[in-house]
Amino acid sequence: MLTSKIEDALNKQVTVEAASSQIYLAMASWAENLGFEGVSQFMYAHSDEERAHMLKLMKFINERGGHATISELAAPPTEFGSFKDMFQSLFDHEVFVSKSINDLVDIALQEKDYATHNFLQWYVSEQIEEEGLARNILDKINLIGDDKSGFYLFDNDIKQLITKPADSKL
Ligand code: FEO
Repeated sequence: MLTSKIEDALNKQVTVEAASSQIYLAMASWAENLGFEGVSQFMYAHSDEERAHMLKLMKFINERGGHATISELAAPPTEFGSFKDMFQSLFDHEVFVSKSINDLVDIALQEKDYATHNFLQWYVSEQIEEEGLARNILDKINLIGDDKSGFYLFDNDIKQLITKPADSKL
């Protein structure tokens, strides 16, 4: 059984994951409009992955006797400047999500809820991967600089980095 403090904290994380999914959807649409198919596919897939993170939390809350709730979300931006700006925003956002997960782990320990603590370890590992991936992409963009043909190749290469929501082991 979840304490109400843990239930509230987990539901806040449901909102964080839902908002992440929306932000990456907005990035997908922006890139698609600019004709960058690879980047847009990457962002659509990333958005699906965030939705899978949200669903995994919801199932856990409901299975443990809580009630997963759905909140209103703020609209994400529609423009993202440059690819470098956009991937920097993605990296910064993932750092924010990691902090949010860490705070949740802290609350689980304070409440002596070891089942939730154990469940959250999957998210801790996932955040290491997501931050690493974003950092890797930013490094590639910095190498390309202003080279247009470099961006064409990058748009093609990024398709290899697309992960399936199934990887979230729902
Ligand atoms: Fe669900 Fe990208 O963190």
